[in-house]
Amino acid sequence: MPVRNSIAERQPEIAAWRQDFHAHPELRNEEHRTAGIVAGKLRAFGCDEVTEGIGGTGVVGIIRGRESGSGKVLGFRADMDALPITEQTGVDYASENEGVMHACGHDGHTAMLLGAAEYLAGTRNFDGTVVLIFQPAEEGGGGAKAMLRDGLMDRWGIQEVYGMHNWPGLDAGQFAVRPGPVLAAGDGFRIVVRGRGGHAAKPHMAVDTTLAACQVVVALQSIASRNVDPLKTVVLSVCSMQTESEAFNVISDTVTLGGTVRYFDPEVQTLVIDRIRSVASSTAAAYGATAELSYFQGVRPTINAATQADIAAQAAEAVAGTVLKEFDPSMGGEDFSLMLEARPGAFALIGNGDSADLHNPNYNFNDDALPAGASWFAELAEQRMPVA
Ligand code: NI
Repeated sequence: MPVRNSIAERQPEIAAWRQDFHAHPELRNEEHRTAGIVAGKLRAFGCDEVTEGIGGTGVVGIIRGRESGSGKVLGFRADMDALPITEQTGVDYASENEGVMHACGHDGHTAMLLGAAEYLAGTRNFDGTVVLIFQPAEEGGGGAKAMLRDGLMDRWGIQEVYGMHNWPGLDAGQFAVRPGPVLAAGDGFRIVVRGRGGHAAKPHMAVDTTLAACQVVVALQSIASRNVDPLKTVVLSVCSMQTESEAFNVISDTVTLGGTVRYFDPEVQTLVIDRIRSVASSTAAAYGATAELSYFQGVRPTINAATQADIAAQAAEAVAGTVLKEFDPSMGGEDFSLMLEARPGAFALIGNGDSADLHNPNYNFNDDALPAGASWFAELAEQRMPVA
C-alpha cells in the first residue's frame, strides 16, 4: 500500500508537531518537554501502555494489534535530541532555545513515529504488538545504551527493531535500505604529548612538544594508508590540537591532540588502537617527548540484518514505489547500532531532498517526507504481522 490516505491527510498536523519540536529543541538527556509531549500524544492516541523515564527521558508506547496470535513484537525507534548549534535557517519556527538546534532532523523522526502511532492505534490492523521507542540522547549521550540498560528489549519482548534517518540529497520521501553495514563505528581518542616547556628563544633548553605533536599528527596518517588492509574501510582524523598557552613565545609542557576513528570491522579497531599507541609514542620519543593515548569506544557500526533489511525494503517500496538498495555506507555513526546488536533489525534512510547537510546551521527537516516516513512504520507493522 502506498502512503496511507489517512496519514497524508494528517500531514499538516504532523508538520505542526514537527515544527513545534523544532522551535523548542532540547540537548541530549534534557528532552523533558519533548518527552512530555510525546507521552501525552501517545496516551491521547489510545496506546495500551505508555511508560516514561526509560533510559533517562525515553518514552515507550505499546500498541496491541487487533489480533495477537502471531506473538510477534516489533520495536520502532525514533530519536528526540537536538544539537549545540546556533540555527541560521531563518524559518518562522526557528529555535527559540539559543545555541540549540534540531540540525539532525530528530524533530522529524519523532513526528513521523508519532504519525505512525496515531494511525496504528486507530486501525490496529496487525497481528502482534508494536513497541514505540522514543529515544533520548542519540548525539553522543548514550541514549540507546541507557534504554537497553533499563531493559527495553526484554521488558517488552521486542523481537525485531526498525529505525530510520533522514538523508539530505536523496529525494524527499524516497528510501534507501541495504543489508549489512549502513553507518560506521565512531570512536574518539586523546593523545597527550609531554615534553619540557620553556622559552621559545631557547628551544635547545626545552623539549618542543608542539613540534613533536605535529610529527605525531603526520605519522598517524600512515595507519590508514600503510597498516589497514586497503580493501577495508577506515577513517582516522586528528581534529583538535591544544597547547597549554596561547603565548607566541612559550614552548608548552604538554600538547593534547584529539581525534576520531571510523570503521566497520572490529578487527580494524583493534589494529588501529595498537598502531596509534605505537606510532604516537615512538614518534614523540624521536623528539625526546612522550605520548600517552586515551581511547574511547563510541557507537558500534550500524549493521542491518539481511532478512530485516529485506522486510524494510519491501515496506519502503510499497510506500514510495521504488527503493534504493545499492548505495555506499556512510562513515557517520548512529547509536541505533546498539539496538541492532541486541536484536535483528534494519535502519533505513529517508530522503530529505535538496537540503543543507546534517549538523549544518542551515539544515532543516523536510516536512514533505513526513507522510512517507509515518507510512513506512505502518506498512512494516501490517506487512510483517498481517491479520489472517
Ligand atoms: Ni541524527
